[in-house]
Amino acid sequence: MERPWHLRCIECGVAFDPLVVRYRCECGGILDVVHTFNAINRDRFRARRNSDHPADRSGVWRYREIVLPLADDEIVTRGEGNTNVYRSERLDAYCGVSGLALKHEGENPTGSFKDRGMAVGMSVARLLGVRAVACASTGNTSASLASYAAVAGLPAFVFIPGQHIASGKLSQTLAYGAHTLQLDGNFDKGMRIVQEVCARTSIYLLNSINPFRIEGQKSIGFELLDQLGWEVPDWIVLPGGNLGNSSAIGKGLQELHDLGIIDRLPRLAVIQARGANPLYRAYSAGEAVRPLAEVDTLATAIRIGDPVSWRKCVRALDACQGVVTDVDDAAIMDAKAQVDAAGIGAEPASCATVAGVRRLVSERVIAPTDRVCGILTGHLLKDPDTVISYHQGQLRGIPASLANPAQQVDAKLPQVLERVEAVLDASG
Ligand code: F0G
Repeated sequence: MERPWHLRCIECGVAFDPLVVRYRCECGGILDVVHTFNAINRDRFRARRNSDHPADRSGVWRYREIVLPLADDEIVTRGEGNTNVYRSERLDAYCGVSGLALKHEGENPTGSFKDRGMAVGMSVARLLGVRAVACASTGNTSASLASYAAVAGLPAFVFIPGQHIASGKLSQTLAYGAHTLQLDGNFDKGMRIVQEVCARTSIYLLNSINPFRIEGQKSIGFELLDQLGWEVPDWIVLPGGNLGNSSAIGKGLQELHDLGIIDRLPRLAVIQARGANPLYRAYSAGEAVRPLAEVDTLATAIRIGDPVSWRKCVRALDACQGVVTDVDDAAIMDAKAQVDAAGIGAEPASCATVAGVRRLVSERVIAPTDRVCGILTGHLLKDPDTVISYHQGQLRGIPASLANPAQQVDAKLPQVLERVEAVLDASG
């Protein structure tokens, strides 16, 4: 079957067939999916929300003409996407803006934005007829891969760091039945090893170095704009680790612009954790990204020193007048406490978004009247241990200004009533 796309090296432009097991060009460059789009009617996307068809209901496949045009029986889906956009006066005040909208990608089936790219990557894995799939992960990609591989009926291998993996993510990976290899090394080491393993075996690599993962991730931007009535915000702000997501959102926006679906591009802001900030360092120095050997942050999802997709991310930043900043763990955990207390909740890496908006507003990069959309990338329950430690005041060096520790009370009615009444009195 003729496919209306091909693969192309982002460095030297060499083209490859649409469906090949390949992640890099001979020159070492990573690959893009380049589409031949037909006329696109954006109203059709919205109309599909009312359909009972699984592909139409998916917040990825609803946009299939601009994601990856597959036939119905080629699609793997768990109804991913369809995530809410929240507004909160509390968070507006915290960040110093009047219109912060937060799109909660933690509401995906496995609790992170990774499901969007995985739906597309796993569909392609099945089309290619591969024997097994694999990824290296700080936890969310592995949870998503494990689930979608189980749904697609493919064996999965995940390579995760020996330490610093949040318990929710590890639980999911084990529960969905992935072969889980915990390496005595960080994510960057796992990323190098998984590429070697996949090159030497017939295992298909489903990290975001896989160009089809990026196509699925683009749908965050598509769905967000659809929810905003295709009114382009001033800013889209998101955390950066391996830099696949920022690359994807930038690529998708550029394509919408080229198609005339939007008339201008929003600005992008990529937020890194201070202890894992190779992109921020490069951006500040006006240089190429240099890998960091040592990284550390409580936001374990973005504990990455050698981001695979940095060149694609720089391209997205150039297209969208992007900025990069970093925030320390205290700022991330403070923002997280605010996001959680607003009733929304998200994992630490996601809250780098909110901490980043706050910093960029204080530095007058973002104006208080700008319309800002932040992406919350993962669910609060991904990392319960960090939440409990925060509220018990047990995170070293992190002021817990919103600590809400559980109170120990005798299981006797008078003592319980006394405690409840004290709280009611104190809150007026
Ligand atoms: N937020 C969360 C919750 C993540 O899990 C990740 C990446 C990011 C942000 C950063 O996105 O890598 O595209 O720049 N997690 C990957 C993983 C690395 O293995 O789950 P990115």
